[in-house]
Amino acid sequence: MAKDVIIACDFSSKAETLEFLDCFTPENGSLRRPYVKIGMELFYAAGPEIVREIKSRGHNIFLDLKLHDIPNTVKKAMKVLSGLNVDMTNLHAAGTIDMMKAALEGLTRPDGTRPLLVAVTQLTSTSQERMQNELLINATINDTIVKYASNAAVAGLDGVVCSPLEAGMVKSAVGSDFITITPGVRFADSGADDQVRITTPAKAREIGSDYIVVGRPITAASDPLEAYNRCVREFLDIK
Ligand code: C5P
Repeated sequence: MAKDVIIACDFSSKAETLEFLDCFTPENGSLRRPYVKIGMELFYAAGPEIVREIKSRGHNIFLDLKLHDIPNTVKKAMKVLSGLNVDMTNLHAAGTIDMMKAALEGLTRPDGTRPLLVAVTQLTSTSQERMQNELLINATINDTIVKYASNAAVAGLDGVVCSPLEAGMVKSAVGSDFITITPGVRFADSGADDQVRITTPAKAREIGSDYIVVGRPITAASDPLEAYNRCVREFLDIK
């Protein structure tokens, strides 16, 4: 199964994003052309054009818009996103199996190809206490994550976004081919920022993560290219 480091390009403008990506060239020593995550902030600020621009530069794109609406609306929105030629996109598993199935239909192009579709189970910002007290979900957070991941598999999705610490649990419950995309990655010698359930790139690989999503340890580093290469070496176990 493909494994890769995805850079979370959490910038607020097209210019800042493209300037950042400009440094990742083979001539500069970049080990790979980075897989790029475009989230809500950049997509809402720069529009679909930023997706086309980054794609035209040869990057794979994970469009992280976390859709959650009635099945028909999500299906139509996914059809539009599919036309942008992204490589991966996502939705909330809480939208139900019917919504996930509709999303998959919308995403599938007339020739049968489609981007990977992964589901957010429980956001890592949701604690078990809040989930139980505010959302009235009377289960443990781990049981909820496994149930939502199983629902995503039943709907035919490719995988889930989860904490790297949950990747092994999801794989055991749903199957080793079910993809895990994991934010919450930090180098052993760097700070956690606002992330709580974190681990290192090497540990994420050992636990079973397929794609790590890394933002500030790369984007805020004094040398982003060096930080990216370090992440790639640790995650892909390149000596
Ligand atoms: O800067 P940092 O490495 O913490 O960035 C992690 C990225 O992954 C951010 O874009 C964040 O929004 C995203 N993310 C996350 N936790 C989730 C889902 C997405 O940190 N559960």
